[in-house]
Amino acid sequence: MSIIDSPGKRQTQQERFEKTRTLIYPDSSQASQELAAEVAELIRTRQGKGERVVLGLATGSTPVPFYRELIRLHREEGLSFSNVTTFNLDEYYGLAGDHRESYCQFMRDQLFDHIDIPEENINIPDGTVPLDKVYESCLAYEARIEAAGGLDLQILGIGRTGHIGFNEPGSSKDSMTRLITLDRVTRQDAAADFLGVQNVPRFAVTMGVGTILKAKRLVLMAWGENKAEIVREAVEGTVTDQVSASFLQEHDNSTFLVDAAAASKLTRRSYPWLVGSVEWDKAMTRRAVIWLSRKLEKPVLKVIEEEYNENVVGELLTAAGPAYQVNIGVFNQLQHTITGWPGGKPDADDTNRPERAQPHPKRVLIFSPEPHDAFVGMGGTIERLVEQGHEVKIAIQTSGNLRVSDVAAYKFASVVREMAELIGGQGWEGQLSYANDIIGQLEEKGEFGIDPERVRKLKGLILRGEARDAARVCGVVDEALTFLDMPFYEAGRYRRFSLTDADVDIIASLLENYQPHQIYVTGDVADPSSLQALCFRAFANAIPEGGWTTDCRVWLYRGKELSLAGHEIDMAVPMSPDQLGLKSESLRKFQSINADELETPERNRETAREYDRLGMAEYEGIEAFQRWCQGSFA
Ligand code: F6R
Repeated sequence: MSIIDSPGKRQTQQERFEKTRTLIYPDSSQASQELAAEVAELIRTRQGKGERVVLGLATGSTPVPFYRELIRLHREEGLSFSNVTTFNLDEYYGLAGDHRESYCQFMRDQLFDHIDIPEENINIPDGTVPLDKVYESCLAYEARIEAAGGLDLQILGIGRTGHIGFNEPGSSKDSMTRLITLDRVTRQDAAADFLGVQNVPRFAVTMGVGTILKAKRLVLMAWGENKAEIVREAVEGTVTDQVSASFLQEHDNSTFLVDAAAASKLTRRSYPWLVGSVEWDKAMTRRAVIWLSRKLEKPVLKVIEEEYNENVVGELLTAAGPAYQVNIGVFNQLQHTITGWPGGKPDADDTNRPERAQPHPKRVLIFSPEPHDAFVGMGGTIERLVEQGHEVKIAIQTSGNLRVSDVAAYKFASVVREMAELIGGQGWEGQLSYANDIIGQLEEKGEFGIDPERVRKLKGLILRGEARDAARVCGVVDEALTFLDMPFYEAGRYRRFSLTDADVDIIASLLENYQPHQIYVTGDVADPSSLQALCFRAFANAIPEGGWTTDCRVWLYRGKELSLAGHEIDMAVPMSPDQLGLKSESLRKFQSINADELETPERNRETAREYDRLGMAEYEGIEAFQRWCQGSFA
């Protein structure tokens, strides 16, 4: 299906809730390739006629696969950008063009340095103009777009506030290029790039909604579960200045390109029974019954016949009714997810248990993308597994050193320095010069500079110590921790990491040597460009098919990202108040990590409340897991 043409095509029954044309792809690379192919076609057609193309471009992680594909088309298929003029959506205010987080720098790194676009054809709002000249400079930007003949195609991403460009909630439909204040959520989302929310600029210069809507064609891309809720609001909700992407509904040539995860909250995906006939298999039935129970605010077993009919799920009763029969089926399914024996209960009938009883004890391998992730996602379960006699190994995939503040590194270096001085220097010359070197490097790079290798190494060691402390609280001995320090992490920065074969090889050889019976790996892949998603991908690429894996189950845990919904949970490990307390204690050991990253016990409580509301037993907390089968998602 072509992305660019047939904008006015009649919508199918399934799409009737969607007010902007929305195309769903299995993943971001396929969508990006198709968009790049269409853009290439546009450029070539215009070249043939001696005409120019004016493209509006976006930054952020969303368009990166699209830019990679354009670069590939340039290198391998000779696509020239000599007739292309570009206008970027926005720029942080106050950042010079060569600041490593400026959008100027981003565009050079991700696209312009790798194609043949003439420098003079590139336009990016200037974030350095003095305040009293900003208005003029914005007017001039608008005039430049007009003079170029207007935007032929504007590429857009979407922020969690629903912004396009940096048009935060409250931006009107006819707003033009201007200086705006960034929303709190937007600044939080950029915090990892700037090594802390306090460093994220407060203002930005952005094209307005009106500027964007004047483009002849708009394509908005969105990837990952993190975007699912806002995509639904923009596509299915009412048009409102509180969600500036919703204005795309009023444009006559706009398309959303989304991957399956970003589409997951659209009605056709989340409540398919509302848009047409569905096949009532076990999974769909469970989903619909949980949805109905939550909608009616009553436990599963109390939902009655009429309520099925009144809420458009009467068809389910025709297929599998009566209501009580369907309810009890789902109740049992939920009940069977609950287990205090995450490694399987030895000598028990395991027909209805999430994990098999044998072998016992099991070799268990837990992957933690950053040192704290496994403890955040499954600290209580780790403690259970150890206590129940399994051989637990925790593989910490990256050093996590980018998370550690300068203050922590400074503290350790100055302790070493003072110890050396106390001892009087004898035999401690090496340590003294190391400490002085670290302190010197910290001072030289300043607050926002890039950490030299030595500083990164020290920060990694600090986190190692904290991880060992946290593990001990969960009963895990030091020797059971393996630090993989995957090279992709050491060479990169958040949202700019790229996985290499060496990374995958490290995971592959660990798996081969240990041959676990049970593996836990992060399911925090809502943002496909996140570190956790990359670590998951390394695992998925490394795990062999067949052989020892035929006697191995893989479980996905969730950390600070979206919790699993009731219908997604395959194993629910309940926790008592004491066990939840222990988990909190282990998380408190990560002193050099921002507390926001560690606040999961509340999520465990919420999952427990969700089970309670559905009519299950009432626990203090639940750690939830999804079973992964090879190929079920990448
Ligand atoms: C970027 C821009 C923003 C981003 C949006 C999504 O130029 O204007 O609207 O498209 O914040 O960011 P990512 O892609 O990083 O999720």
